[in-house]
Amino acid sequence: MSRLLVTGGAGFIGSNFVHHVIAHTDHTVTVLDKLTYAGNEASLAGLPEDRVRLVVGDIADAAVVDPLVAEADAVVHYAAESHNDNSLHDPRPFLDTNIIGTYTLLEAARRHDVRFHHISTDEVYGDLELDDPARFTESTPYNPSSPYSSTKAGSDLLVRAWVRSFGVRATISNCSNNYGPYQHVEKFIPRQITNVLRGVRPKLYGTGENVRDWIHADDHSSAVLTILDKGEIGETYLIGADGEKDNKSVVELILQITGNPTDAYDLVTDRPGHDLRYAIDSTKLRTELGWKPTYGDFESGLAATIDWYRENEAWWAPTKDGVEAFYASKGQ
Ligand code: NAD
Ligand code: DAU
Repeated sequence: MSRLLVTGGAGFIGSNFVHHVIAHTDHTVTVLDKLTYAGNEASLAGLPEDRVRLVVGDIADAAVVDPLVAEADAVVHYAAESHNDNSLHDPRPFLDTNIIGTYTLLEAARRHDVRFHHISTDEVYGDLELDDPARFTESTPYNPSSPYSSTKAGSDLLVRAWVRSFGVRATISNCSNNYGPYQHVEKFIPRQITNVLRGVRPKLYGTGENVRDWIHADDHSSAVLTILDKGEIGETYLIGADGEKDNKSVVELILQITGNPTDAYDLVTDRPGHDLRYAIDSTKLRTELGWKPTYGDFESGLAATIDWYRENEAWWAPTKDGVEAFYASKGQ
């Protein structure tokens, strides 16, 4: 049994990971989360109190971080400012949390010689052309586009430097776009699902041709546990489930599953600097560590996610109007 410190465990992917750990292992979990607008204690409801503890605090606060890292067997670092559109509006919190927060955690892991796993994104590699047969691999050069992805790239490089310079026992994973329960309604799939549930037309940026490579958050969690168990220190692993879809197809599928006409959406102002396409080649993780995804069918995973939002309006309704007011102010 291990004691995991999960930063950002009240956010979307972090809370899915905590649920996964409790269901599939005998580890105990301390969640360190600042409960920003993106964190929600309700995402941890129903978990056993003798195995999950929430500490509300900032990963950039060394006085909070140090004793929690000292008592952990491993740190799994999800906490971040995570939304590209917000980073275009106000980049500063992205520097504070993604760069200084990661630095603060790494220093504590170094002091106490604690195993560290850093959660990152495929966006550090920039984007691909729509007709490019290439996908991102662990050796693709970094080329981030947005304030968000540049701070995630910076945090990855800090982890690599702390491994090489100080011998910190760290691994890194870069995952593609996640979907599933507990995702904030600012993000693409939950925004469109909750729009449709409210009788509002989905909003596609630009022409809707941009491609994202979708993976269920539960598959991301099993990949992270695999890397914690079997990953080699200092290595980077890309996580993906061969789920490339253009945004228009995703919206059409949401409309079809909910019994609406598939052309009942609006094209709105594009995101500045909008990355065209992401695509992950996860061969290394699959062949070296033996991981594979279990959600093979995007349509049924999406249908289950739509059901979750239908059944959990109390979880998302308090944030919906504020998010839509923000987008409306930008013509989106
Ligand atoms: P999220 O925005 O839903 O959750 C982030 C969590 O971090 C929230 O609970 C928030 O309260 C917490 N947090 C923010 N700043 C903090 C701070 N200073 N101290 C402590 N806690 C803080 O994000 P997400 O979508 O769940 O992403 C989690 C991680 O996964 C991020 O590192 C992100 O870069 C990475 N990632 C996300 C995706 C995706 O598709 N969403 C894909 C690949 C990688
Ligand atoms: O690739 C991994 C990344 O995926 C993570 O690192 C980020 O944390 C996560 O937010 C996500 O980034 P994206 O920018 O790809 O996700 P988002 O949900 O914001 O948008 C997905 C796509 O949908 C993107 O092409 C923009 C588009 N979009 C988004 C919104 C909110 C729309 O067309 N309409 C919308 O209303």
